[in-house]
Amino acid sequence: MRLHSLLGLIGLGYLATASNVPPRNYESHDYYVLHLDSSTPPSQIAIKLGLTHEGQLGELQDHHIFSCHKEEDDIVRTALKERRQKKRSTGDSDILDGVKFAQKQKLKARLEKRGPIPPPPKGYQSPVEQRQEGPAPSGLARQAFVADSLGISDPIFHEQWHLYNPVQMGHDVNVTDVWLQGITGFNATVAIVDDGLDMYSDDLKGNYFAEGSWDFNDNTAEPKPRLSDDRHGTRCAGEVSAVKNDVCGVGVAYDSKIAGIRILSKLITDADEAIAMNYAFQLNQIYSCSWGPPDDGLSMEAPGILIKKAMVNAVQNGRDGKGSIYVFASGNGAAKEDNCNFDGYTNSIYSITVGAIDRKGLHPYYSEHCSAQLVVTYSSGSNDAIHTTDVGTNQCYPGHGGTSAAAPLAAGIFALVLGIRPDLTWRDMQYLVMQTALPIDLDTGEWQTTSIGKKFSHTFGYGKIDSWATVEAAKTFENVKPQAWYYSPWIHVNQAIPQGNEGLAVSFEVTSTMLKEANVERLEHVTVTMNVAHGRRGDLSVDLVSPDKLVSHLSVTRKFDSSKDGYNDWTFMSVVHWGESGIGTWTVIVKDTEVNEHNGTFVDWHLKLWGESIDADKQTLLPMPDEHDDDDHDKIITSTTTIAGTTQAITPLPAPTSIITNPTDHPDRPVNAKPTGTTEDETASPTNSAAPEATTSASSWLPSFFPTFGVSSKTQIWIYGAAGLIIVFCAGLGVYFYMARRKRLRNNPRDEWEFDLIEEDEAEGLNTGRRSAKAGKGSKRRAGELYDAFAAGSEDESEDEYVDGVEGGDEREKRLYDDDDEGEGQHVIGDDEDDEIPDEKGSQR
Ligand SMILES: *[C@@H]1O[C@H](CO)[C@@H](O)[C@H](O)[C@H]1NC(C)=O
Ligand SMILES: *[C@@H]1O[C@H](CO)[C@@H](O)[C@H](O)[C@H]1NC(C)=O
Ligand SMILES: *[C@@H]1O[C@H](CO)[C@@H](O)[C@H](O)[C@H]1NC(C)=O
Repeated sequence: MRLHSLLGLIGLGYLATASNVPPRNYESHDYYVLHLDSSTPPSQIAIKLGLTHEGQLGELQDHHIFSCHKEEDDIVRTALKERRQKKRSTGDSDILDGVKFAQKQKLKARLEKRGPIPPPPKGYQSPVEQRQEGPAPSGLARQAFVADSLGISDPIFHEQWHLYNPVQMGHDVNVTDVWLQGITGFNATVAIVDDGLDMYSDDLKGNYFAEGSWDFNDNTAEPKPRLSDDRHGTRCAGEVSAVKNDVCGVGVAYDSKIAGIRILSKLITDADEAIAMNYAFQLNQIYSCSWGPPDDGLSMEAPGILIKKAMVNAVQNGRDGKGSIYVFASGNGAAKEDNCNFDGYTNSIYSITVGAIDRKGLHPYYSEHCSAQLVVTYSSGSNDAIHTTDVGTNQCYPGHGGTSAAAPLAAGIFALVLGIRPDLTWRDMQYLVMQTALPIDLDTGEWQTTSIGKKFSHTFGYGKIDSWATVEAAKTFENVKPQAWYYSPWIHVNQAIPQGNEGLAVSFEVTSTMLKEANVERLEHVTVTMNVAHGRRGDLSVDLVSPDKLVSHLSVTRKFDSSKDGYNDWTFMSVVHWGESGIGTWTVIVKDTEVNEHNGTFVDWHLKLWGESIDADKQTLLPMPDEHDDDDHDKIITSTTTIAGTTQAITPLPAPTSIITNPTDHPDRPVNAKPTGTTEDETASPTNSAAPEATTSASSWLPSFFPTFGVSSKTQIWIYGAAGLIIVFCAGLGVYFYMARRKRLRNNPRDEWEFDLIEEDEAEGLNTGRRSAKAGKGSKRRAGELYDAFAAGSEDESEDEYVDGVEGGDEREKRLYDDDDEGEGQHVIGDDEDDEIPDEKGSQR
């Protein structure tokens, strides 16, 4: 055993040098990640703490991994605590003072591999009953022409309706004319972050990119499928990059390179996931991720801080500073009322979230809705699925589906784009996708027309990807200026949320001065971080209404979510407001629609507007996220004067524009003054937000209060600043809003926005409720649990052996894939339950 592991260490040691990923042994060792002051040598920290320095944490500067033999305690935390006490009493200095952050690594709890299967929709037919319409003669002719012209002789190309659909004409990714221009993904690289990929498949090996690949589960350079159900990554890879040859079909970018990053097949730590998300990020351009927290309609989980840092690092430093492109599947929990804003990966501004439509262009029942979803593309539903490559030398799979299959298809299309425009940044790609998506199903999609004349639906995002349109636009796309941002201060509410159809609405006014100070020209993403205490989380919903009266359903009710945790510093994201100026009143409306014993309090919120900068030269990069980023609201209360609020009872007003007066109507009034002498120059200050000194009311009827946010302490200096117009109005809003909603969303929501204001003394109790809201916070937040979301759940795992010594106990390690045995015959099309249409399966995406 000992010798064996020693040999293993030597072998892996070699690979580790090549790849910078040292081997891990979670059975015998503990691992710590320490963020050190750049002047603090990790070697000395190691000596001081009795640890072994394992090297830098992937691509994260000043973050290091240390190991030691397994112990119950968090020995680093203990040592740091002692050190702090000593420092307080003696005031001396010590090498340990250079430790900025320390985290003992835990194997993440393995969440359900396959959740309960959502019921198929009414009218669902099994594939056996299915009776597709026949292909159109013109469609067949076109398909034959394309195959001929491009020399495509892949045997299942004619089944790959997502590439060219001769039956439901027009329901495909519209890629054939892109290929005919010779744009086939050459020079582009996609990494499939998943359960590995079969680099020995004859359909993949020609495009396999070893330099970008790593197996984080088995600590080897080759991310081969090793478990019986390690097939998901291979199927995803085939969609992107299956070679044009005589095996199966072709990928949408069939000349692109495809890498595998295997993380889903065993428990891993946040540290390893952080390394994986940055793996070979100068070479891998796109990371396709068809996984996330469970789609069970009750989870609300975000990646841990190290993973968040890795993602920011990727967009800032990956691809030589142009930024890695993350593509995430929106999730398959729609039938359980799950929503992609409850998933911290899909609602990250750094990921392009992709939902699914089926071969008839319909919304499949599994594909999640949310305001963070940018776009959709084809996957399973209407009795068919995606036909792609499978594990094995020459194996195909006709049943790949769920949003799992949509994300890689999108990633492949983005590879076509990067093949001709490798200079596009991560944000350029989002602009391109947003601008060229094709709205579909206009009758049922609850479409809103946005400020820049685009259409957005929470079901379809900006629509379906049209590869041709995207590539055409890419040819002449002009890079956007760097990212800028504006953070509002924390807005304290501390009001009970009325039950029923009433809502509690709170507004904040953003002035042109604030955005000018923040160097923000026009919006891209909007995020709202909020705290709501509630006895039953699933009863809550949250809407955000922009100055242009566009509505983001940030949160929706979820019948299965009976958590008592409420929202704890949870960040919701919206892409609905793309292109708006951001100037004017932003309103958050929290509702508790169920009249029951579960009540709640809206504690506070914080608005962040992300967008393109005005002056590129002035713009700095966003500082790395920090685990204390959301801690400052407690401080703002103590560091500001009271947020004196006034509200006013008002009966329904006919013209919505008279309710909320946009400050742009009064461009010359003195809105804000720059604070003087407020910052004792904490250069890390990420915001360029303006600090208000004086503001005046924007309208004659609206009683205004303009709180002065004073100088904040150094820990949150970056948030200081920004004037607030806070209006709390509730009640009447409810019924009216509700009834108006349907119509409003179908039509132009901006024309019909109406609500009432009633009196509430919101100045009262500003400081109450904060505690209780925050109680229970902490352990809940670290989540980011990685789990897989595999396609096609076979029921064949019962015989799997357990691997001992791994927390969670359900680690499956049935070896199916040894070098000499590729399991031929296990993957024959149509011979087992794997071939069921997977969109009736549970938690795969
Ligand atoms: C598809 O591509 C063609 C060019 O081949 C283009 O004319 C058309 O507008 C695109 N979109 C659709 C929906 O066909
Ligand atoms: C691929 O990239 C290389 C190096 O950047 C470049 O010289 C070549 O022209 C590219 N090929 C295509 C087809 O874009
Ligand atoms: C629910 O209502 C009770 C009674 O008004 C109150 O004491 C409690 O704080 C409320 N709960 C929340 C989470 O706001």
